[in-house]
Amino acid sequence: MQHPTSEVNQRISRIAAHLNPSNLQMEENSGLSRVNCRAKGGSPGFKVAILGAAGGIGQPLAMLMKMNPLVSVLHLYDVVNTPGVTADISHMDTGAVVRGFLGQQQLGDALTGMDLVIIPAGVPRKPGMTRDDLFNINAGIVRTLCEGIAKCCPKAIVNLISNPVNSTVPIAAEVFKKAGSYDPRRLLGVTMLDVVRANTFAAEVLGLDPRAVDVPVVGGHAGVTILPLLSQAKPSCSFTPKEVDDLTDRIQNGGTEVVEAKAGAGSATLSMAYAAVKFADACLRALRGDAGVVECAYVASEVTELPFFASKVRIGRTGIEEIYALGPLNEYERVGLEKAKKELAASIQKGVAFVRK
Ligand SMILES: NC(=O)c1ccc[n+]([C@@H]2O[C@H](COP(=O)([O-])OP(=O)(O)OC[C@H]3O[C@@H](n4cnc5c(N)ncnc54)[C@H](O)[C@@H]3O)[C@@H](O)[C@H]2O)c1
Repeated sequence: MQHPTSEVNQRISRIAAHLNPSNLQMEENSGLSRVNCRAKGGSPGFKVAILGAAGGIGQPLAMLMKMNPLVSVLHLYDVVNTPGVTADISHMDTGAVVRGFLGQQQLGDALTGMDLVIIPAGVPRKPGMTRDDLFNINAGIVRTLCEGIAKCCPKAIVNLISNPVNSTVPIAAEVFKKAGSYDPRRLLGVTMLDVVRANTFAAEVLGLDPRAVDVPVVGGHAGVTILPLLSQAKPSCSFTPKEVDDLTDRIQNGGTEVVEAKAGAGSATLSMAYAAVKFADACLRALRGDAGVVECAYVASEVTELPFFASKVRIGRTGIEEIYALGPLNEYERVGLEKAKKELAASIQKGVAFVRK
């Protein structure tokens, strides 16, 4: 039995750690160890870090992860504004204990002991920009964050959201290789928003509830590399050639639709946070041992001749356990696949060269 005064002190420390930004700096100062945090603060579950947690995606993502019963500890890291976001989110009466970390000197503390790291850090697009235009800034951010992961939680599952995903995933892989910690089963580029959009737009055409629709989206996460396989949509259905053309175009340009509608105020954040949480929840269920967790993701792959490709993968306790072949494609999809591969090859090469140079 623990002495009641000590319990009270720990509780006060925990609350102070949320509220007082100076206490965010060194968790040892708060007198609260990670073990205590997990055992007393919240439900038994997983430790999750969000890097870029104060951003447009990061904030709603943090809120939704705080609501996830599989999460016991939630670390919020950013280079700005984490004290405020952390104080705010920490008032939600859900199980997960929330802690904030600000600036690169606290990256190690944010990452140590994490089971899952979600990365939405980096700049988003403005109208007229492609995802590749973000490369110069985001490549460096992703490299730094992945160096931290390799050092502090090399066994964590990584969900990479920062664009251009087609290049940032190869960058992360190269960083992990350099550090000697690369495990391709644990690195997943998040393409879930493309699937979410495909399900929504296809459901509109079919007059169905989007929750009943499942459209695999393969390839990558930019323009023509986003390849929806409408011929494999479930429930099985048929689209006219015009519907296929319109749907493919809308799914490939869904991100641009949002960027233009926001007119300079950013790219998709709310739907992305939703998609990221859907994907992270699948990873956590898989880590827990649930069977049959299958989602699309951009991963190291042998499905095509390219070293990275998005397709359906089965996730388990150790990360990706099986990568599924593309299945039968129709002529329209075969043509799309060739276009996708051409652009993807260049984006992968660009990412690899960035780290190797
Ligand atoms: N994978 C996808 O489907 C998808 C969809 C939408 C957006 N995105 C991408 O997600 C990223 C974030 O988008 P957003 O709208 O949230 O942008 P945002 O600018 O609103 O937020 C980004 C956050 O990252 C933080 N940040 C910058 N450098 C950092 C560093 N070194 N370490 C930690 N945090 C850092 C910023 O301070 C900011 O809070 C962009 O690259 C965007 O293109 C991906």
